Amino acid sequence: LADKLESAKRAAAYRAVDENVNFQHDKVIGIGSGSTVVYVAERLGQYLKDPEYNGLVSQFICIPTGFQSRRLILDNGLKLGSIEENSSIDVDFDGADEIDDQLNLIKGGGACLFQEKLVSTSSKKFIVVADYRKKAPKYLSTNWKSGIPIEIVPSAYVRVADDLKKLGAKHVIVRQGGSAKAGPVVTDNNNFLIDADFGMLENPSQLHDKIKALVGVVETGLFIDNASRAYIGNADGTVEVFN
Ligand code: A5P
Repeated sequence: LADKLESAKRAAAYRAVDENVNFQHDKVIGIGSGSTVVYVAERLGQYLKDPEYNGLVSQFICIPTGFQSRRLILDNGLKLGSIEENSSIDVDFDGADEIDDQLNLIKGGGACLFQEKLVSTSSKKFIVVADYRKKAPKYLSTNWKSGIPIEIVPSAYVRVADDLKKLGAKHVIVRQGGSAKAGPVVTDNNNFLIDADFGMLENPSQLHDKIKALVGVVETGLFIDNASRAYIGNADGTVEVFN
């Protein structure tokens, strides 16, 4: 099963790169976070080694969405850039925690949602790569995963948690660092994360707006009207493309 999952991720990522990088024209590429994007960077690394593409791919500037993503770029021999110097990105590739049939996403399982949103909304094309477990039947549902990840200013966590409950959240937790750390996860921006369970999301756009308006909220993991296309790898090796 683990092998099938990895093959599904690899198939989705490879096809996404093959079909969405315009090697002649693209210059700036966004590289997201998670275990599927690993294969996006791997594919670009393969093109880099190919004499036919080397001259072009060696000029690509890759914009990371966090620490893991920065390493992926460097480990594959690609050129690392920053969003400060490249505010317009040609194409961004990133994973997702959940994808509905309108291409709305929940992201932030890896705690990088703010930079992921900064990069994806700065991109002309945002391509999602994921495996079959991420597809929601119809609506995004936050109860069978951990909730909507929300990045918040640390001092506001009690206030934001209360306000989220008033907005209808059934369950709100400040994400903890796990066995390796006593206390909350700290994001790359030195903020905390709240995971808020709102059940099924029939109107994710409206909910995003309401959460975003709370004092102390930096960004939400709801990515609405942002993705251009999603490549979803299946267990049988096929890839589904959603526009
Ligand atoms: C990171 O914050 C998330 O948004 C990731 O993009 C997400 O968790 C995808 O991870 P996988 O590719 O491992 O499924």
